[in-house]
Amino acid sequence: MCGIVGGVASQDVISILLDGLKRLEYRGYDSSGLVVLAENNSLNRARAVGKVVNLEEKLKTKKNKIKGNIGIAHTRWATHGEPSNRNAHPHICNHSVSVVHNGIIENYLDLKTSQKEQGYKFTSDTDTEVIAHAIHLSMQSSETLLEAVQKATATFDGAYGLGVVSPKYPDTLIATRKGSPLVIGVGKNGNYIASDQMALLPVTKEFIFLEEGDIAELTLTKVTIYDEGGNQVERPVKTSKLNKGQVSLGDYQHFMQKEIFEQPQAIRDTLESRITKENVLISAFGPKAQRIFKKIKQVQIIACGTSYNAGLVAKYWFEDIARIRCNIEVASEYRYRHPILLDGTLFVTISQSGETADTLEALKTAKKINSKINTLCICNSAESSITRGSELTFLTHAGPEIGVASTKAFTTQLVALALLVTSMGVTQKTINKKQEKAIVEGLKRLPGLVNKALKQEDQIIELAKRFKDKTSALFVGRGTMHAIAMEGALKLKEISYIHAEAYPAGELKHGPIALIDESIPVVAIAPNDELLNKLKSNLQEIKSRGSQMIVFEDEDSHVKSMKAMDVIPVTSNLGRITAPIIFTIPLQLLSYHVALVKGTDVDKPRNLAKSVTVE
Ligand code: M6R
Repeated sequence: MCGIVGGVASQDVISILLDGLKRLEYRGYDSSGLVVLAENNSLNRARAVGKVVNLEEKLKTKKNKIKGNIGIAHTRWATHGEPSNRNAHPHICNHSVSVVHNGIIENYLDLKTSQKEQGYKFTSDTDTEVIAHAIHLSMQSSETLLEAVQKATATFDGAYGLGVVSPKYPDTLIATRKGSPLVIGVGKNGNYIASDQMALLPVTKEFIFLEEGDIAELTLTKVTIYDEGGNQVERPVKTSKLNKGQVSLGDYQHFMQKEIFEQPQAIRDTLESRITKENVLISAFGPKAQRIFKKIKQVQIIACGTSYNAGLVAKYWFEDIARIRCNIEVASEYRYRHPILLDGTLFVTISQSGETADTLEALKTAKKINSKINTLCICNSAESSITRGSELTFLTHAGPEIGVASTKAFTTQLVALALLVTSMGVTQKTINKKQEKAIVEGLKRLPGLVNKALKQEDQIIELAKRFKDKTSALFVGRGTMHAIAMEGALKLKEISYIHAEAYPAGELKHGPIALIDESIPVVAIAPNDELLNKLKSNLQEIKSRGSQMIVFEDEDSHVKSMKAMDVIPVTSNLGRITAPIIFTIPLQLLSYHVALVKGTDVDKPRNLAKSVTVE
């Protein structure tokens, strides 16, 4: 989950590489670096610890003024070796070859031992350095750089997206991928590579998405691609629908803030052409969806992080509303635990990026365990590894999400899942026409309801100030609101570094209530549903232990306010589908404003990356 950019152009590529890296910082920002081939045919490198702006500053200094028409660049999320200059990419072997890498080479220790025996010297603690040495070694017996990279990659176990340049082949850039994303940008004045098309939008809108195991040779005028078996192949060139503006801040202070406020539109876009006046269009899941949904006996959902929390809400919906059995598990556990997958299972993956390594591997594992299952993904990225590996795809139309903390991806995933639950219920006749109509009407109200919930911001800004010196917080809810509490706690911990836990409100008495005193704020979600009275009793139990409480309630819930308890009416008259989506909004705003109070880096919180393409 690092970011790669590279290019061969008719102009100096430094500014293209730096701009591309900035657009990829969501993938990691521990350190960054670049290499260009200078006119004298040497590899000129600059590296800096921290964000890309540090590299940019370094390149302005006299000593580091470099330029070149071919180069590779990298922004790092450290896996092997601390964030430092020596561990920053690109890595170079014997002044002859330079490499940027996204992924993990799992057999790097074996390779390192044998390379050391052959006299190679190591200057970093990374797994990537073995790649540079392996390619250098293969170059001795190869006629082209492409051949050398092919031979070297054949010795790697693990995942890689690679960009490679060598002064011996001054007109060529080699790119290859396996298990990590890599796209080729086809431009008028050059050809480029990147981990994500967003990095290249200022130079091109034409992209080739490499398949697993593909290797590409880029020159100024040509892109030639070979598949894993070494056969030359044609891959389609696709025109991106994204534009540069979508990935800029506009009037907002942070991407997270912008993305929170984009939710009404993101939900509208996700619903567009997927519903009619009274119905959900099952074909939104693909032409084969109706036939597949008919025979499904149970659903298995797999995801990570926020996407997992969305799946948890859907588990309630599947069983409660559509009466279809549903299990959910985090991908990092599922992929390693030899699960049982019955015939008639719909295997649903949820992923904003579509590149999360754990989710992708869980999908591959599931298909190996039982080849008869059907697979469906809910994803925000059309050309991702997970969409390509799934039989049915539903694209959330949230637009690019840059802030590391997921917001609009989550609410649009919930919309997608609501459509899925309804489509399956209708197909299996567990949801009748009247219920379907009610769900569709609820979904249509969502953009307006989200707007209303966003209006609570001023009040939430005041509440956020109370978290300034807090180190722990508890989030509680019942039913789907337990999943929303989990999402609220995840948001708070990842961007404000406050330890936060979520519990089903009825579970507190089995242990966690011992934690409660005046130092731990408790955030509760109180929709007006059949569990409201039970929740009210739970709130009393918490209150009598002296906690400071914030309750986000439905206007009709009438939670009685007490000393040290703020009750914030968010909205009213919500249904089982709309309620979890709407109660998410105040929790997003709360974590955002607590992070501002704490002064953390909201869009790039420490130790995290947007897209986790490593184990
Ligand atoms: O791209 P994905 O939805 O597969 O990503 C899964 C998680 O890594 C992601 O949701 C993560 O938990 C977010 N940072 C949460 O805000």
